[in-house]
Amino acid sequence: MSLDVATEPDLHHELVVDKEAAAALFLDARTANNWADGEIAEETLQAVYALTRMGPTAMNIQPMRITWVRSPEARERLAVHMNDGNRAKTLAAPMVAVLSYTTQWHELIPTTAPHMSAMVPTFESNPDARKLMAVNNAHLQAGYFIMAARAAGLAAGPMTGFDAAGLDGDFNVDSASKSFMVVNLGRPSDVIDRARLPRLEFDAANVTL
Ligand SMILES: Cc1cc2nc3c(=O)[nH]c(=O)nc-3n(C[C@H](O)[C@H](O)[C@H](O)COP(=O)(O)O)c2cc1C
Repeated sequence: MSLDVATEPDLHHELVVDKEAAAALFLDARTANNWADGEIAEETLQAVYALTRMGPTAMNIQPMRITWVRSPEARERLAVHMNDGNRAKTLAAPMVAVLSYTTQWHELIPTTAPHMSAMVPTFESNPDARKLMAVNNAHLQAGYFIMAARAAGLAAGPMTGFDAAGLDGDFNVDSASKSFMVVNLGRPSDVIDRARLPRLEFDAANVTL
């Protein structure tokens, strides 16, 4: 299986973005554990969010919340909740984002989907439906977030190996917010510490009826 952008000429005939964009977003981008030097500017974080928020969610509910963990003090607090195999990575990353979902997204329907404001009481009385929609759509937004970070010139190292309950007790004082992913971020390093794992071929993951 080839993932080299230079050896995928047929693919590029089908794309509306140029080769460099396809490489930066998908084909050359790697999950990162090593970083080039340099701080991540506040403007870069805002650019990442500006792209992330435009990805579609059901009813436009946008349930994902981001906590940027920049200060060394906050980073030490976060590291306590990471699995042993992830702790050093989180301490070393130039920036870390904790992604959470809120189950109270329905309170913002008058802002996010004003034409559906009458549904606020319906969702208020159905916490199970709210949680399912929050989890599903926040995970979608996490995917947009990773791609947005790449579009802004960053590499991302997403992780689910952490103690979410412990992290929430420390960082998510609002009990409606639940962490579900921690993402290390920084400028990509030239050092790639492991080979690319195989991706499934079209026939293994697709069916056309
Ligand atoms: C939702 C999610 C959770 C992950 N959790 C961890 C983790 O806890 N620790 C870790 O080292 N890598 C974790 N990874 C990294 C994956 O193993 C990696 O993204 C995948 O193998 C693809 O690597 P590549 O982008 O370099 O091809 C996670 C990735 C995702 C998307």
